[in-house]
Amino acid sequence: MVVEASISERVHQAVENALARFGAHDDELIPILTHVNHEIGYLPGQALEEIAHALKKPKSKVFTVASFYGMLSTIPVGKHVIRFCESAPCHVVGGRQVIVAIQQALKINIGQTTPDGQWTLLAVSCLGICAVGPAFIVDDDVYGNVTPEQVPAILKKYQG
Ligand code: FES
Repeated sequence: MVVEASISERVHQAVENALARFGAHDDELIPILTHVNHEIGYLPGQALEEIAHALKKPKSKVFTVASFYGMLSTIPVGKHVIRFCESAPCHVVGGRQVIVAIQQALKINIGQTTPDGQWTLLAVSCLGICAVGPAFIVDDDVYGNVTPEQVPAILKKYQG
């Protein structure tokens, strides 16, 4: 019989895996957070506490770092996460029309998750690919030079 690990055990194991991979070193905080975020889907309070304890840092500092980076999330997110660049260079080349198209397609606003738990839409600062704005990331996939007309086809790739 297969017994699914509790969320607490999964979080603990994800932290252990990250610490084993990167070491409990101050300068590895971001890779550790990124690893756990990837395994669990976000960074629960328990993970931040365990990481803070292992790195001998105040939890508030770990939380500040976890909250700062757009690629990390301290709240539960949907199965797929869209991180949309809302910085000015993307905005002026049509970003607003693209984010409106995404919001209309998913029927959610920025910061929300669809009721079926499939999608979370987040607005983040520059993704570092300004030359191909408007730009966004779905999970680990990068999309640039996006037009509103392309949005439905991009979203469809992740359905089913
Ligand atoms: S401003 Fe959008 S990727 Fe840099």
